[in-house]
Amino acid sequence: MEMLDRRDASTGDIPVASKDLLRFLTCGSVDDGKSTLIGRLLYDTKLILEDHMATLESDSRKFGTTGDEVDLALLLDGLEAEREQGITIDVAYRFFATGRRSFIVADTPGHEQYTRNMATGASNTEFAVLVLDARAGLRTQTQRHSIICSLLGICHIVLAVNKMDLVGHDKEVFDRIVRDYVAFADSLPFTSVVPVPISARFGDNVTSRSPNTPWYDGPTLLEHLETVDIESHVMAKPFRLAVQRVNRPSADCRGFAGRIASGRVHTGDQIVVARGGTVSTVSRIMGVDGDVEEAGAGDIVTVELAENIDVARGDLLGDPRERPVVADQFAAHIIWMAEEPLLPGRSYLMRVGTAWTLASVSAIKHKIDVADMTHLAAPTLSLNDIGVCNLSTSVPVAFDPYEENRETGCFILVDRETDHTVGAGMISFALRRATNIHHEPLAADKSLRAHMKHQNPCILWFTGLSGSGKSTIARALEDRLTGAGYHTYMLDGDNLRHGINRDLGFTDADRVENIRRAGEVAKLFVDSGLIVLCALISPFRAGRHMVRDLVEDDEFFEVFVETPLEECMRRDPKGLYLKAKSGALKNFTGVDSPYEVPEHPDLTLHTLEASPEALAEIVLRRLRDTGHLL
Ligand code: ADX
Repeated sequence: MEMLDRRDASTGDIPVASKDLLRFLTCGSVDDGKSTLIGRLLYDTKLILEDHMATLESDSRKFGTTGDEVDLALLLDGLEAEREQGITIDVAYRFFATGRRSFIVADTPGHEQYTRNMATGASNTEFAVLVLDARAGLRTQTQRHSIICSLLGICHIVLAVNKMDLVGHDKEVFDRIVRDYVAFADSLPFTSVVPVPISARFGDNVTSRSPNTPWYDGPTLLEHLETVDIESHVMAKPFRLAVQRVNRPSADCRGFAGRIASGRVHTGDQIVVARGGTVSTVSRIMGVDGDVEEAGAGDIVTVELAENIDVARGDLLGDPRERPVVADQFAAHIIWMAEEPLLPGRSYLMRVGTAWTLASVSAIKHKIDVADMTHLAAPTLSLNDIGVCNLSTSVPVAFDPYEENRETGCFILVDRETDHTVGAGMISFALRRATNIHHEPLAADKSLRAHMKHQNPCILWFTGLSGSGKSTIARALEDRLTGAGYHTYMLDGDNLRHGINRDLGFTDADRVENIRRAGEVAKLFVDSGLIVLCALISPFRAGRHMVRDLVEDDEFFEVFVETPLEECMRRDPKGLYLKAKSGALKNFTGVDSPYEVPEHPDLTLHTLEASPEALAEIVLRRLRDTGHLL
């Protein structure tokens, strides 16, 4: 039981499995009776729990005296750690025990939209109880949850066919559901699937054998939970520790603190800092209660190294003989959890271990149809979709394929504007092109080229509604700049759409890609020393944010060309608003497609109040003030 002391408040992780501790997850909806089942298990084992706790008292200082306290602590720890990580979910951990084993249940709401809770609840669990209603049989939700369980590496499934009392404890009904499920789950890599006919409400086959199902000779649910053989292999895996904090116990010493994700470490061992590739020797290991010679998966430690090498928060330490993969492009399964669809090309915040980076999906290879596991083509992923995607990150990240190591192979995606967790992922492998394509050095650099042109290059990003005046102002400005001998280039949305962006339309996904490409091209022009004027509607904050991140801080100006929609409609220079209003043109910005107003633009130009020339002059003055024109 001492294992429970190892709860990690920093990651919300519950200790790795042991012979006398089983962590499991329940899936299913409230209607299926999931809550009742958990309630039943807690209730029926309560007496045993108190009994058991009495003997536990002497074993475990940390535990306190009553079972309730343990439950509460686990509950709060889980929630607090998740909040710290920016995951807003409500997985509650519940604890109960029998004479044979202790149990931790990740109790997750079951409605479709709570797939996210399920996914996060399962990531530290080996075992799942799928609850379904005998009257309804196999439904999409159970199938979806099964696929997610398998992706998450859960290999043991109990199929709890609930509400048997409502179908007259009919063997036929039970057999049919089991047949359906086995046919469905045939291609999923579960090690065991054990069906149990139960009634959570009346307790049939939950903790005691039911006289109502004489035809059933398998174990009760609790018997199965008590005896199922689950070996955790995290100790046997290569050593991994994601650095959570860099401590300075004294001036000449630095300690790297975190939770050991897998494997063991011993003083004198060599470790590698995955990203940099530097190797050093472990000189000291500090555990929660003082120095130790050795520590293993689940332990929270501070490690000191013999050499003074560069290690930062977010770095992954590993065994140099079995190194983590380091790559900036990889393939992964993504479970999408947001109402807003995933858009390829949009950048999201990604957390892998303790590292944060920017990441975008470069391609959705397919999504998985949860009904029959076939692959479907998909331009985006919607809420609850499970997709196989290629991702690229702004800096290389260290990881292991999820199949090899669940602790270091998973990630979450967070929306940059809302801070909501929008996806969970499992990394399959690094893309070969990521490891085989290197950066070639160039003969001249940006500063040389800029110097030759007597200017400091930058992007002037004009954003606003169609007809707001972006191109007109940009043209007036370019006129002034070139007239004064500066070197410029103009990227106009309409023009790009005749060439490099010819294949793109006006869906959200296409607009994201449109801006990504325009941004990448603008970046190359900045590198060549030019002042780049970009005039694109660029309706999404995230897209503009992404372009800003492509260049240095002083190289990007977001210029909001602010013209009221009514005025744009009145001007309607290309007659497009008229078409859009009549329904002849779909997805038109401002009519039936959104425009997200800039929150902190570098400049706002009000076109109702001044001429394009006067507004161009404002931008010109800003460029002088910021030292871009020499
Ligand atoms: S963006 O939204 O992806 O940034 P972009 O600036 O490249 O758009 O192109 C906008 C131009 O395309 C508009 O000025 C207009 O002339 C034309 N256009 C055609 N269809 C649409 C549409 N559905 N929405 C907006 N602009 C459209």
